[in-house]
Amino acid sequence: MDTPPRSSCSQKDVKEKTRAKYETQWGRYDERIAAERRLNISPVADPLLRMIMPFAGKTMVDLGAGTGGLAFRAMELSPPKRMIGVDFSSRALLVSKATASAQPFADMDFEGVLGDLERLPLADRCADIILSQASFNLLPDKSAGMKEMARIAKPGAKMVLSDAFRARRKCEGEPWAACVAGAVTVVEFSTLALSAGIIITQQIDLTRQVTQLVKSKKWDWPEFIEHRLDYRGFVMVKA
Ligand SMILES: C[S@@+](CC[C@H](N)C(=O)[O-])C[C@H]1O[C@@H](n2cnc3c(N)ncnc32)[C@H](O)[C@@H]1O
Repeated sequence: MDTPPRSSCSQKDVKEKTRAKYETQWGRYDERIAAERRLNISPVADPLLRMIMPFAGKTMVDLGAGTGGLAFRAMELSPPKRMIGVDFSSRALLVSKATASAQPFADMDFEGVLGDLERLPLADRCADIILSQASFNLLPDKSAGMKEMARIAKPGAKMVLSDAFRARRKCEGEPWAACVAGAVTVVEFSTLALSAGIIITQQIDLTRQVTQLVKSKKWDWPEFIEHRLDYRGFVMVKA
């Protein structure tokens, strides 16, 4: 099991292990399995997306896009002008590229970008809308990730981020790459957002939906229940 990082050296280590885990996981995926996952997780994604729709005319960025579970779901619900999915797993990007080249997405503008969320290879103020689902917890340096999000956001840009949150103290031996050890409290998250010039405008508790998905084996994330985490979604605005 991984441990939470304490120095920049162990942070690099944890990041590399996380990347390796997802390379293996997404290596087992193809467009069909990715579409099934997208549909399975829609009870968590849809309520948040609907809070900031429509997306017409908007440039959107999905941070930690994986195989595009959230990005393509957003495109299905309300096609944007452009969708950019960023991830550091090259295998995830291969699957999202295949999804993007088939209908109904072939006529839409999707670009998969290989990159680290703590150092985004994107221009300042390029995004009207930023999405992120179950990826923020995996960042060893959350302050850097939040600042990067603020940097690429246009002033007034909306952001929708969801992940597991902890209400209890961290325990020894919690797994990192399962989004557990890196989970923060809502207060810690709000402080990180505010320090980056990001204002939380709405919050939604999605714990029940995630628990049901895990119990019905539609989301392979037993650690979420084992470690009694909450799942929250936030709508935020770049000041
Ligand atoms: C739990 S998956 C979620 C994927 C997608 N958002 C979804 O909900 O289907 C987390 C994703 O974050 C990516 N990730 C984790 N840390 C990252 C980092 N530092 N930079 C870029 N991607 C990262 C992983 O490769 C993985 O694809």
